[in-house]
Amino acid sequence: MSKNPRNPVRRHFIKTLGLAAGGGAALLTACSSGHRSAEKNLGFAEIPHRLDARHHLPKDYTADILLRWGDPIDAGGDTFKPAALTPAEQQRRFGYNNDFIAFMPLDSNVGPAEGLRHSCSHNSRSGLLCVNHEYTLPHLMFPGYADKRSAGRKVSAEHVAIEMAACGHSIVEVKKTDEGWRPVLESAYNRRITVTTPMEIVGPAAGDPRLRTSADPSGRRPVGTIANCAGGKTPWGTLLIAEEGFGDAFQGNPDKVADPAEARNHRDFGIGPDNRNWGDHHSRFDIEREPNEPNRFGWMVEIDPYDPTSTPRKLTALGRFEHEGFTLVAKPGQLIAAYGGDDDEHQFVYRFLSSGRYETQADNRQLLSEGTLYAGRFDQDGSGRWLPLVFGLGPLTADNGFHSQADVLIDARRAATLLGATPMDRPEDVQTNPVNDCTYVMLTKNKRRGEDGLNASNPRPRNSAGHVLEIVPPGTQGNRDHTSDTFRWNLFLLGGNPQAEDPAERGAYGQQSAGDISPDGWFANPDNVAFDQRGNMWIATDGCEDFGFHDGLWAMATEGEGRAIPKHFFGCPLGAEVCGPEFTPDGTTLFVAVQHPADSRDSTFDEPAHRWPDNDPELPPRPSVVAIRRRDGGPVGS
Ligand code: FEO
Ligand code: CA
Ligand code: CA
Repeated sequence: MSKNPRNPVRRHFIKTLGLAAGGGAALLTACSSGHRSAEKNLGFAEIPHRLDARHHLPKDYTADILLRWGDPIDAGGDTFKPAALTPAEQQRRFGYNNDFIAFMPLDSNVGPAEGLRHSCSHNSRSGLLCVNHEYTLPHLMFPGYADKRSAGRKVSAEHVAIEMAACGHSIVEVKKTDEGWRPVLESAYNRRITVTTPMEIVGPAAGDPRLRTSADPSGRRPVGTIANCAGGKTPWGTLLIAEEGFGDAFQGNPDKVADPAEARNHRDFGIGPDNRNWGDHHSRFDIEREPNEPNRFGWMVEIDPYDPTSTPRKLTALGRFEHEGFTLVAKPGQLIAAYGGDDDEHQFVYRFLSSGRYETQADNRQLLSEGTLYAGRFDQDGSGRWLPLVFGLGPLTADNGFHSQADVLIDARRAATLLGATPMDRPEDVQTNPVNDCTYVMLTKNKRRGEDGLNASNPRPRNSAGHVLEIVPPGTQGNRDHTSDTFRWNLFLLGGNPQAEDPAERGAYGQQSAGDISPDGWFANPDNVAFDQRGNMWIATDGCEDFGFHDGLWAMATEGEGRAIPKHFFGCPLGAEVCGPEFTPDGTTLFVAVQHPADSRDSTFDEPAHRWPDNDPELPPRPSVVAIRRRDGGPVGS
């Protein structure tokens, strides 16, 4: 990249980052209106880069280990004893590998029987903690498996049944007490959603022949959800949870699938004979026996946490791919815009636009079932366009194998490719900052782009550290038009060490003088993101151990002098990534999900690298949700 300054990609990269002649300029601030961050903004004492068996916080902060894998979520549950775990027991306990977290406030003195919608409550002391469980690690969950690779391919029927009960989602009422956050085990809201929970498929692809199986000739009644990574919330009090890397749950040889187009589809999601062996015990996870079953995964799933009897709905209008999540911009009287990413190398950023308008007093639940999905094109000059995935438009016709809108949505990746969307460096969370109204895309990494694959929005040939893109819809600060088909975009930051010798690997944050970022302020591999009440961005990482230190949280302003200059707030124990940062409405608690602790080389259930968070010789390492508070009760991060 640096070898060819006449390369237009390189030129735009330099211009966008403000690195042009005269140097030292800030990153472009298209979202800025001169607004300065509040006084005392991000005034916490930064923590150092580390790598050990503990979690780390700034002084003056405390953390409650709130929910761990295996903790009971009902009043009758015993203390977790891993040797006694059965599928039925796991079904009533907190699942494995916690990821997305939503805190859904509860009004006091109201139970689920009242059926009240609570979405307007700002209660920050009592709510439903809604948590995804992305995937399982049998070699860390059960004794007797030698390593990760072998464990995934020969898990016993009993252990597979436990895995299926440990995936999906947990809804647990939690409350803040004088001693910290606690689960409410007797709550009627508490619920597990797993790989065996009955669901419904809605939207344009519902009932399509490609969604029909021998167990469900209707194509509308799938069972279970898997690979639940990040997600989003709706203003009508429901959750959207993503189905991301679902391909690993399916085994079989795509060459043995009769329809070559379906075989290509399965190959594209990584389905193959060496995947985990659920198909040995459950025929629907074997594509040679049930070739349409994978088409019933890879969707966004809507859950009503306030109604424990509700049936989760797979929303086909939002497309099928490896969904990281989908987050909404819902302004009264306007169409809903929702943004999501497909977390794979060279995949796309998407926007959905509802057909109907969001009205606070109306029943809005159909809004995510009727509308248009778009894929993002990020042009070299910093402009961009949303390209509609509509059957019959442009190349999305029978000539290219599309026979209906259902085909376009089931094969959204192929449709977006044909439309000319920009292949990105693994799009993870895509979220809109409620203060400046710009949208931020976490691009975690892509080591396979190469010089020939460069584009201005993905400017590194070997992007090992990831970057963050800023989408600026037309309009003014805090009032932007997310329904517009055009936008501007900026490179917000480039992950990695700002002192790296190789300029192609060097991180770039805020102003480019060495004094602007501390030695612990840089990070790599942005994955999840949240915004606090002041519009600060909180980035959760997945991959910093490749750079010699723990994954964690870094906070930064998006406007003013501190724009894109991170400060290190939280660090994970060895082997873990951090997911799901979520604030209470008042900002005084920050929930984080520590995922796959001790998942490091040679670490197993029998000989784990460590036993966080219990450090009990009788217990394995356990993925856990942590509730972080300032000791004086003030807003986290101020
Ligand atoms: Fe499951 Fe994209 O991280
Ligand atoms: Ca993620
Ligand atoms: Ca991740």
